[in-house]
Amino acid sequence: MNADTARSETARRGQEHLFTFWGELAPGQQRQLLEDIAQIDFSTLERLIPTHVRSAPSAALAGDPEPVDALPDQPDPGKEDDYRRAEQLGLELVAGGKVAALTVAGGQGTRLGFDRPKGEFTISPVMNKPLFQLFAEAILAAGRRGGRPIPWYVMTGPTTDQPTRDYFAERSYFGLSPDDVTFFCQSVMPAVDREGRILLDQKHRVALSPNGHGGCLLALATSGALADMKRRGVEVLSYFQVDNPLVAPIDPLFLGLHCQTGAEMSAVAVPKADDLERVGNFARVDGRVCVIEYTDLPPALAHQRTPDGDRRFDAGSIAVHAFSRTFLERLTGGDEAIALPWHRAEKSVAHVELATGERVLPDQPNAVKFELFVFDALPLANQVMILLRKRTDCFSPVKNAEGVDSAATAQRDMIRQAVHRLEACGVGVPRRSDGEPDAVVEISPALVVDEEKLRVAAAALGQIHPGAQVYLE
Ligand code: UTP
Repeated sequence: MNADTARSETARRGQEHLFTFWGELAPGQQRQLLEDIAQIDFSTLERLIPTHVRSAPSAALAGDPEPVDALPDQPDPGKEDDYRRAEQLGLELVAGGKVAALTVAGGQGTRLGFDRPKGEFTISPVMNKPLFQLFAEAILAAGRRGGRPIPWYVMTGPTTDQPTRDYFAERSYFGLSPDDVTFFCQSVMPAVDREGRILLDQKHRVALSPNGHGGCLLALATSGALADMKRRGVEVLSYFQVDNPLVAPIDPLFLGLHCQTGAEMSAVAVPKADDLERVGNFARVDGRVCVIEYTDLPPALAHQRTPDGDRRFDAGSIAVHAFSRTFLERLTGGDEAIALPWHRAEKSVAHVELATGERVLPDQPNAVKFELFVFDALPLANQVMILLRKRTDCFSPVKNAEGVDSAATAQRDMIRQAVHRLEACGVGVPRRSDGEPDAVVEISPALVVDEEKLRVAAAALGQIHPGAQVYLE
């Protein structure tokens, strides 16, 4: 986009103030500003200003939510064969080259306060492996077990894209073939003030931020990743977030159940820690499965109990999904493309004051940001499968620098998970008086994907002494 086109486009859209400081900018800065402006989807923004900025969409639920039917973690009596067959099917899908992994890693990770892409954050308790390496090793091992490499699609954001590519290249893709790892960058949306005016982050930079994890659906299509999956014969996509070190990137039972039940989109759920836990709630509204954000679930429903005294809305979302490729094609393809709803978030956004040229960071929310959420695709799927998993097996996100959902809690949970696995193999691990393991244990993802190998390695371990550091590979 050249300067004249950009100027007339912004003027036509009532956003000409983006050029306020043009005369002060060096040529490189002018180019940068034009590049930023070229990324703005003005027509979507114009549509959102009346509904999401000047007023807020109603948070009232559209219908009467019902709890969802979720498949249990362990098969009900008489269903053992179904689960065995599903797991076998999952393994066959991998062996047939029909499974790919998708990691969304385009977020800004502001709460963690780490100045590199979040996937580079070192987390494993003994070996200090970064998140990306844990996933890479699991994907590599699952592919080796199936006899076929598993393609891995990694969604980045504008600021994490190049650093992420460089990081993988410097580390030789953690043993994966570069041909099997595809990076694609998500789109951005500008932050606007309460009148809908786009904010300038600096005199030559628009305040742009990634358009939410739901942006992956469209970005998969526009980047060519979806077409690449089709070319490779991939039928199912295993979706997870970059900040969850407990996740199984390739879970044969989950993927097998997804296909066995004919689902277009599936989800892993965990029982909520408490009524008001800050996770999305799976529900059925007007016959469609959806996720109701914790902020939107009325307290009366959040506290509701069944006649047995159980929490009625107990299935919490951990952002682990399976997608059928054909469903993604239907969502994103041509005339039939289905749009996800936009969410608004009020945030304090640093910006340059037009009158003074000063950059300020208000301590109160001053701006609206727009995001798409991946779980909003659930109601669009004709068939949905939800599998209830134990939280300790699959979920402990790294969101904050300290406290809840921090590196410390994720590491603690990784140790607990590894210790459970050892104990399931008959290995005793010393425990402290509060019941916590008295050893720092880490199991290589390559062993986790293969129970038989894990048993052999565990059997060879010998006694674990209190305070020991154990790495099993
Ligand atoms: P979060 O919603 O926790 O956001 O993302 P975040 O950016 O990681 O962290 P904060 O809120 O700034 O502290 C959950 C997952 O979705 C991805 C993130 O990378 C993470 O894996 N995500 C989020 C994207 O890929 N794109 C986005 O636009 C937002």
